[in-house]
Amino acid sequence: MKAPTCPAHQDLPSYPREREDYVDPPAVLRGGPPVSPLRFVEGSIGWLVTGYHEARQVLSDPRFSAERWRGDDTVQPIPAWIRSNRGNGPGTFMVMDPPKHGRYRSLLTRYFTVKRARDLQARVEDIVVEGLDTLEAAGHPADLVRHFALPVPSLVICELLGVPYEERRTFQSVAASIMRQDLGEAAYDEARVTLVRFFDALIKSKRQRPGSDLISELTSGTELRNEEIMGIGAQLLVAGHETTMNMLSLGAFTLLRNPEQTRKLRADPSLIPGAVEELLRYLSILNAFPVRIALEDAVIGGATVRAGQSVAISVPTVNRDPALVDDPDTFDVGRPRSAHLAFGYGIHQCLGQHLARTELVAAFRGLLDRFPALELAVPVEKVRMRTDMVVYGVHELPVTW
Ligand code: HEM
Repeated sequence: MKAPTCPAHQDLPSYPREREDYVDPPAVLRGGPPVSPLRFVEGSIGWLVTGYHEARQVLSDPRFSAERWRGDDTVQPIPAWIRSNRGNGPGTFMVMDPPKHGRYRSLLTRYFTVKRARDLQARVEDIVVEGLDTLEAAGHPADLVRHFALPVPSLVICELLGVPYEERRTFQSVAASIMRQDLGEAAYDEARVTLVRFFDALIKSKRQRPGSDLISELTSGTELRNEEIMGIGAQLLVAGHETTMNMLSLGAFTLLRNPEQTRKLRADPSLIPGAVEELLRYLSILNAFPVRIALEDAVIGGATVRAGQSVAISVPTVNRDPALVDDPDTFDVGRPRSAHLAFGYGIHQCLGQHLARTELVAAFRGLLDRFPALELAVPVEKVRMRTDMVVYGVHELPVTW
């Protein structure tokens, strides 16, 4: 049910909304109080957090729930995959509160440590080389999204989950379609059924012949039911694929638009890990996440949020708060590493962040190394931005070399 919109609310900024100058947070969301009322595009009224400290406060406060369907009059800017998952399916711990959340997360933590990401590094680098080969073989001009940014994260997830080589193509095509937000309800449901069947078969085969991958370990080392393992697998796919893919493609676009910064990276590749942190901060690809719902009345940044109201954290704005870094609107690959919130904060902070960093560092290093003359194959304004998507980025990135 939509909350009624009273005339006073007509003037509130609607959310989410388009960025400025391709990556900057919407100007209308900036410069005001750190927590202010907003109108979700569907019409309901909630709160917007743009202050860095206030965002950390909300994300680490148990009075704010990640279970999105608690308040009946809350309408969220949510993508299709969550909509069809209204009941918080088994295993989808990203939208669970403690103690359920901790039960699943603790089973997975050891697969996502810094050490585990380092162990996977050599495989990730091989996958990046395969991706670079595919891009090169496509011949220039080529779409960097289709030939590089899309397949690399999906193959890394295959590696993590233990998807056999002969089935990776099927996995990639289901993964690519499940993430298309322009799919109609029927096509989306069909892709979802295919994904469920895929995971079902994978889990059964791992129960019979376990390997050293995450699904095998969940099937043999825990009491989890098949539906829970499937939920975990699907969540890893959704959380880890679209995000990394967009960081790769929007990151590449940003490097191409800032040649003086890119020259610094080419001259000194040891700057690349720092540049990845700066890209995560500067681009903040999550347009409309995270969102929380107040379980009780709470005062944050001087605003009184009532029980049942939703609170949206504008990560792009929060990561440009001068409370986080000096001169926040400048993209500077040499900036000291900041405590940005691109991976969230608190108990739901991104589980895959170390893996994502490993992928991004390997991918940007590989791209700069393989293509010393990489450049856009179309004028900047012809690059279509994902303005209407929950995860921001570019639809295609035609490049030449
Ligand atoms: C650059 C890439 C990525 C970005 C920007 C990103 C961002 C985020 C953010 C902001 C959250 C917190 C959501 C919330 O508080 O509601 C999150 C959670 C999560 N991410 Fe990532 N992520 C990335 C890559 C990955 C990868 C590669 C994986 C795994 C393969 C992954 C798995 C997860 C999971 C499982 C959660 C839920 C954690 C929980 O609820 O305890 N992410 N991510």
